[in-house]
Amino acid sequence: MIEERADIGLIGLGTMGRNLVLNMADHGFHVAVYNRTTSVTDEFIAANPATPGGLTACRTPGEFVAALRPPRIAVLLVPAGKPVDAITQQLIDAGLARDDLVVDAGNSLWTDTIRREREYADRLRFFGSGVSGGSEGARFGPSLMAGGDAGSWQRLRPIWEAIAAKVDPRTGRPIEGAAPGKPVKGGEPCAAWIGPNGSGHYVKMVHNGIEYADMQLIGEAYWLLRTLLNLEPPEIGDVFAEWNKGVLDSYLVEISADVLRQKDPARRGRYLVDSILDAAGQKGTGKWTSVNALDTGVAAPTIAEAVFARIISALKDERLAAAKLLKGPAPLTRRALGPREKIIEAIRQALYCSKVCAYAQGFQLMREAQKEYGWTLDFATIARIWRGGCIIRARFLQRIAAAYAEKPDLANLLLDRTFRRQMKEAQDAWRRVVSVAALAGVPCPAFMSALAYYDSYRSARLPANLLQAQRDYFGSHTYERIDQPRGAFFHLDWSNPGRPQLRAE
Ligand code: 6PG
Repeated sequence: MIEERADIGLIGLGTMGRNLVLNMADHGFHVAVYNRTTSVTDEFIAANPATPGGLTACRTPGEFVAALRPPRIAVLLVPAGKPVDAITQQLIDAGLARDDLVVDAGNSLWTDTIRREREYADRLRFFGSGVSGGSEGARFGPSLMAGGDAGSWQRLRPIWEAIAAKVDPRTGRPIEGAAPGKPVKGGEPCAAWIGPNGSGHYVKMVHNGIEYADMQLIGEAYWLLRTLLNLEPPEIGDVFAEWNKGVLDSYLVEISADVLRQKDPARRGRYLVDSILDAAGQKGTGKWTSVNALDTGVAAPTIAEAVFARIISALKDERLAAAKLLKGPAPLTRRALGPREKIIEAIRQALYCSKVCAYAQGFQLMREAQKEYGWTLDFATIARIWRGGCIIRARFLQRIAAAYAEKPDLANLLLDRTFRRQMKEAQDAWRRVVSVAALAGVPCPAFMSALAYYDSYRSARLPANLLQAQRDYFGSHTYERIDQPRGAFFHLDWSNPGRPQLRAE
């Protein structure tokens, strides 16, 4: 007989789900678990006989609902899309009540979360939460981006704040050292209520878009060091480890250093990275971010470029054929490259500047989304909860948080005084890296797109005047004039130019 004693339940015992359960149990919460394949539940319970909070194995949705103390909280960690609706319906059929809370902690599309909240409103409270940090994060402290009604958040909050990663608020550094049964004590939790309905999943999606850009940029830095300077993977690993002590200090740079130093266990004398096929996979969140940027009219080229870079990488066979037919430039001489230490330092600076642009684009997207969906997003808080637990955690998020705390309506992160100064100081190196890469024929699309973004954004004038004239010429699409107020649209009869005519919109 199952008793109503679990504080919370979780459905979906994949790696993320299992680790999130153990994390909650480490914090003293009793967790009911259910998985469609019962043997997975049994194995999980057998492997974890004594957790501080305790676990209850449930073999059916009915048992699961019965095991939860009302008003119930059920967390879903099932694949995004149809499975979320299917399991929610099963829980309703199994007796979930109107006051019960269903928390979708997967990578769901935010518009699905908005729809679900509305659709299930008279049967339960549907809530969305982004969870970042991979399996390690889930186990010892993820970053949690909660979105839904404020009352539900108050119920979820003690659990979410307990299990989240913790950072030292003074330094912004994650507090390390959590181990099974021994969660870290103190610190600021990387969990927050982002806003209503789909906002938590939206912010998680933007996190992933930035993650794509970050990973691509690090990949380009690696590739420049590999191809221009012929550095071996462990040497690049050492360079990255060194970079990780400064402004680039981040989880992704840290793990890249580890990856590059890893030998290939299957082939003696080789490094694993050299044995891995250069064809990237993706599950779609970077694409969603880029599509949303186009839909909302926000320039997020570096994020989109990172998605395109994955797409091109995946065309391995086509690239192998093209490599034989399409000629590139002659290799650059060592002299043209300049001193090795100087180019390494320039690549470091180029990586930093490009990274700032990628984050700036992500925040621009969120700024626009809040208008579109009627959310009020707190960018300082978002930056704060990204300082620990998540994949894009990085030291400079402390500065991003401070920038938005000082000026919540900052038009663009690039305009913050610290980033302005840093970009000014590093831009020569950045430009040099991009030009050397172009001359040498080494692709670095994200570095290049970030620099173009920076230069476009800081340009008081752009050639869009000619573009407007072209549009008016072939399609009478009208243009505004620099000597007239904004919103006054003119058309010229280009075949018989007289005075431009003012056109009603
Ligand atoms: C996280 C990650 C995670 C994501 C993987 C894989 O924040 O923990 O973003 O949610 O699913 O990184 O993403 P791709 O397969 O698209 O690279």
